[in-house]
Amino acid sequence: MIVLRTVAELRVAVRAARSRGERIGLAPTMGAFHDGHLALMRRAKDECGFAIVSLFVNPAQFSEAADLARYPRDEGRDTVLATATGVDALFAPPDSEVYPRGFTTTVDVGALALPLEGVVRGPEHFRGVATVVTKLLSMAQPDVAFFGQKDAQQTLIIRRLVRDLDLPVRVETCPTVREPDGLAMSSRNALLDAESRRRAPTLWRALSAVRRVVDGGETNPSRALDAGHAILATERIVPEYFAAVSAETLAPLGVLEGEVLIAIAARFGAVRLIDNVLVDARSART
Ligand code: PAF
Repeated sequence: MIVLRTVAELRVAVRAARSRGERIGLAPTMGAFHDGHLALMRRAKDECGFAIVSLFVNPAQFSEAADLARYPRDEGRDTVLATATGVDALFAPPDSEVYPRGFTTTVDVGALALPLEGVVRGPEHFRGVATVVTKLLSMAQPDVAFFGQKDAQQTLIIRRLVRDLDLPVRVETCPTVREPDGLAMSSRNALLDAESRRRAPTLWRALSAVRRVVDGGETNPSRALDAGHAILATERIVPEYFAAVSAETLAPLGVLEGEVLIAIAARFGAVRLIDNVLVDARSART
């Protein structure tokens, strides 16, 4: 696996792969690799002759300086793990390569960025994500880019910007990878203390409870979410949000129908965790 630091180096490697007739796959990440990231990388390598993983902790998507400062970083460990997946290149640029002096352009996807994470993290969060992902796609020019379902709103936003800006890339969403107790894998899990780590799988148990009642035919969103709130209450978890929204538009639903995203965020001390599940409310009534 080669390690690349500049866009010029990346472009040389991508051009060489294309001249060999290989398809280019990109898995964008912020490092601190866990099995979820490794699954994205393996999928990129399975589907593309030349698979790139990017590692860039993007300052523009952090609204709190303390959150950026405590974000786990260990490029040495990440390099070893990425190599073992078989990816061909690790693109780990310095901040100055991504945001050179005088950088001012941003990408704003509008309404999709406002609910859920947008309420808690502010509009700058998804502006930062959309801007850096647009840049990474432009830098690497992949045929396929791989993102995780755990960040459902992010993935929806990326699909939208790719469509709206006519970017020539296919976006693949990969399933959330979970610990044996159901906790969604996240780089932030490493920051949980022992008691928070014990309580954190409650998020998945609450989502699963909502899924069960929707699968059983419940179409009233508050009644469906109540099943999850009851589980959260057993561990005194007050979520930042716990919502049933349209999986396509993220709009709140008066009645559960079609593909529904049940999304949750909660704080465990200083650590924020998010998770979600997709339910097909159509299948409940057919
Ligand atoms: O999901 C992430 O790790 C980041 O938000 C991404 C997509 C790499 C952009 O910085």
